[in-house]
Amino acid sequence: MTQKTVAFFGASTGVGLGALKTCLAAGHSCIALCRNPAKLSAIFDLEKTPNLTIVQGNAHDIAAVSRCLKASETTLVDAIVSTIGGAFIWSKMTLDDAHVCEKGIETLLSALTTLRKSGVVGRPHITAFSTTGMSRFGRDTPVAVTPFYSIVLKVPHLDKRAMEDKLASSGEEYTVVRASLLTDGETEREIRVGIEDPAKGVETKAIGYTISREDAGKWVARNLVARREERFLNKTATITY
Ligand SMILES: NC(=O)c1ccc[n+]([C@@H]2O[C@H](COP(=O)([O-])OP(=O)(O)OC[C@H]3O[C@@H](n4cnc5c(N)ncnc54)[C@H](OP(=O)(O)O)[C@@H]3O)[C@@H](O)[C@H]2O)c1
Repeated sequence: MTQKTVAFFGASTGVGLGALKTCLAAGHSCIALCRNPAKLSAIFDLEKTPNLTIVQGNAHDIAAVSRCLKASETTLVDAIVSTIGGAFIWSKMTLDDAHVCEKGIETLLSALTTLRKSGVVGRPHITAFSTTGMSRFGRDTPVAVTPFYSIVLKVPHLDKRAMEDKLASSGEEYTVVRASLLTDGETEREIRVGIEDPAKGVETKAIGYTISREDAGKWVARNLVARREERFLNKTATITY
């Protein structure tokens, strides 16, 4: 397997951490942006993990993001995995930052443009992590949870929609991953995958209730980083048990 250089945004916890762990174990060179690097240095023994570089910074800061995107002085990383997300405030049914993902993708795309203008070359594949309940081509969640998605999760969904649309129209190579409700704990359960083309609609359907953060992260690392399956290129992959 070819070793790759991968930039991570949002890997201090959750899905991103699951993807980061899998990529590190596979020997890929990983650069992780972290607002609080102590979160990752508490998880990984940095002396025994030479293929991990932690960069302190915010995913909305173009300078910090740019520091993560170079594999060398002149080349971009091979892959980018963004799993950032805000904290949900249940009392207000909103996020602590209602545009966290939209601003994240804008910053990432601007950073790539700026680096290329300065002579850095490359075409990294971008994975952006989103959620089910977003399809423009019909229901992609079980009937029982549809009201929860459309009412309670309205704010995060608007943010994810903006992120997805900006990425899809960027001209970059990408895959949007929409997960069903996230749970905790690594499992060996089978993951079902649906594929949607942003313009042409549903290719295959997978409707389910949940998937764990660890399993989702592992799926991203295996299917979109280690090998890049053509069927997911510039498409949306829905993952669920
Ligand atoms: N909850 C669900 O059921 C569900 C279902 C489908 C999809 N999703 C979405 O899937 C994604 C991953 O979920 P998760 O549970 O793995 O998320 P999570 O554990 O809350 O992790 C979010 C990550 O984003 C980082 N982050 C947020 N804003 C940032 C910023 N401005 N700069 C740098 N890092 C930033 C956080 O860093 P810090 O450690 O610094 O906070 C953390 O590493 C999220 O977008 C979530 O909305 C959620």
